[in-house]
Amino acid sequence: MSDYKRILVTAALPYANGPLHIGHLAGCYIPADIYVRYQRAKKRDVKFVGGSDEHGVPITIRALKEGVSPQEIVDKYHEQIKESFVQMGISFDIYSRTSNKVHHETAADFFKNLYDKGLFEEKETEQYYDEKTKTFLADRYIVGTCPVCGNDNAYGDQCEKCGSSLSPEQLINPRSALSDAIPIKKKTKHWYFPLQQYEPWLQEWLIEGHKEWKNNVYGQCKSWLDQGLQPRAMTRDSNWGVKVPLPDAEGKVLYVWFDAPIGYISATKELTGQWEDYWKKEDTKLVHFIGKDNIVFHCIIFPSMLKAHGEYVLPDNVPANEFLNIEGEKVSTSRNWAVWVHEYVKDFPGSEDVLRYVLCANAPETKDNDFTWKDFQDRNNSELVAIFGNFVNRAFVLMHKLCNGKVPPLHASVLDAVDEQMISDIEKSKTEIEQSLEQYKFRDALFSVIDLARKGNQYMQKKEPWILVKKLAENPQNQLLIDNTLHISLQLTANLAILINPFLPNTAQKMIYMMKVVDKILDWENAGKMKLLSVGYSLRPPELLFRKMEDEEILAQVEKLRSGSANATKPITNISNEMEESKSNSLKPEIVYDDFDKLDLRIGTILSAEKVAKADKLLKLEVTLGFEKRTIVSGIAQHFTPEELIDKQVVIVANLAPRKLKGIESNGMILTAEEPGGKLILINPATLTLPGSNVK
Ligand code: 2FM
Ligand code: ZN
Repeated sequence: MSDYKRILVTAALPYANGPLHIGHLAGCYIPADIYVRYQRAKKRDVKFVGGSDEHGVPITIRALKEGVSPQEIVDKYHEQIKESFVQMGISFDIYSRTSNKVHHETAADFFKNLYDKGLFEEKETEQYYDEKTKTFLADRYIVGTCPVCGNDNAYGDQCEKCGSSLSPEQLINPRSALSDAIPIKKKTKHWYFPLQQYEPWLQEWLIEGHKEWKNNVYGQCKSWLDQGLQPRAMTRDSNWGVKVPLPDAEGKVLYVWFDAPIGYISATKELTGQWEDYWKKEDTKLVHFIGKDNIVFHCIIFPSMLKAHGEYVLPDNVPANEFLNIEGEKVSTSRNWAVWVHEYVKDFPGSEDVLRYVLCANAPETKDNDFTWKDFQDRNNSELVAIFGNFVNRAFVLMHKLCNGKVPPLHASVLDAVDEQMISDIEKSKTEIEQSLEQYKFRDALFSVIDLARKGNQYMQKKEPWILVKKLAENPQNQLLIDNTLHISLQLTANLAILINPFLPNTAQKMIYMMKVVDKILDWENAGKMKLLSVGYSLRPPELLFRKMEDEEILAQVEKLRSGSANATKPITNISNEMEESKSNSLKPEIVYDDFDKLDLRIGTILSAEKVAKADKLLKLEVTLGFEKRTIVSGIAQHFTPEELIDKQVVIVANLAPRKLKGIESNGMILTAEEPGGKLILINPATLTLPGSNVK
């Protein structure tokens, strides 16, 4: 670190096409935030930039699905994501967005700079084209079978099952993600960045020069380089994105992976007039926090772009995390197999730090990891409550009981080996935690903090001030021993506040409130010191730092996850019992095909849902069919909350005669399946489907 004067930390720009889930937080935002808070506490010059990625196919596909414009999509999700970050204490210095003017200008200038250097190769090639929707099928507009693992739903840029990076040409049996049509080939012109020319430089800068990068990151880069790099098209046929700044480029925009990382530069520009210091001075340490699916873009493509431009610094490190699974299964937003941040903060108000704790303790730092609600409960109850919270609470309660609510003096004459050991453990922990944080080992750092609190409990247990006080009359010397124990325990509490602050900032704030000290105490240079709280200073009564999580609330979360997911797996035994039961239901009388054909069944996407006043069972839903929106009143209020229905795709009976329910005209009916126990399940398509599609 010593060679650097300033640090610029970036965290991947999430696509503004849906809410934030805990996989996002664990992948890069929690580690980035811990790192930044630590650097701020060290009084280093650090800036933390982020923002929403508002271009590319992920946005336009979502717009199609919701039947609204891409602008409406990004406006909606940018705000929601930004709020979730604030609620979780992710302390960006700026959270910007790539639809901003300054970003469009910065990205276009960057492209123009490379263009003027004659770097791009302009090529006309044949690309897949969907005649039905008149769209060139790049990236996620095209799906097909993955040539590596056989997954039938691989995208044109990546297979999400095996992680392979793909091009549309590699897909077997390609089809349009928009219409399912078999694509034709059609000529189109694009600008290609000659990535292959940067291979020798990447070998030297990355493979030789950054052997210290995390194994998962370094290994992925090495295998990319071993396979050889290809020229990469940096433009797309679309009207949504940064326009290609050339006269002959009508209908062409920059490839989202060209413009998005430049978003870090634009955000820094918006943040400070000194932005060039952070991007152009060699004594800047640039660190990109990302998830593993972004490694190639941040370690190979963006650095090559920066190198080609020539004026910018290169990343010093890219500490990417792997993926966080949920209850043993991959996160799937389409299946709603996710824990949504905006729902968590509603369900567990005041427990944002608990989620930060669990996601750091369980961070997928070296391999994919699993989040389970049971583990969430266990870590909260047996680590935060029973170790950290318990120690702090004991120190405060005993100080109020045995030392008149004031910090007692330290009596050097009666200090013993146990006291000395505790003091030296505090100093040692500080060094250990600092080293782990500098090396991006956030789990190790956090465990060292908890371990120090554990030692605090053991210390208290050995000293037993509550026993000493009982024999005070016959042994007045005991007060000195009590004083020493509480003095050391309170200095340890102050140290714990400093050390936990980067991880659990709300908890650190509660602690400094209890200690009646100012924020300044949290400066990192104070860690390891034993005179943080002055003798005779009176402290506030303790507040509980963490509350116990009860079984019921944890089970409710598991249930919410399972019932919210269309394909959630259930224990086999339950399913077979239920199947037996449903078989015994008698079937309705036979119908002919023409009876069935009278039904007009369509896919719709629920845009909004609200309870109907004075009707326990009714929800009023706004549903888009793509070509029109309608209101449907549905008797499902006792099975689904309005929030969980939003964005769900459903099958609706679209030609049912309108009827009034509680004064509201309902235009259609939502189909559900009723399990024998009476539980309702929404019938929804297994893959994202254009609203208005016929169901036959
Ligand atoms: O994977 C993603 O969600 C991308 N939107 C990340 C972009 S990171 C950066 F380059 F902007
Ligand atoms: Zn695959």
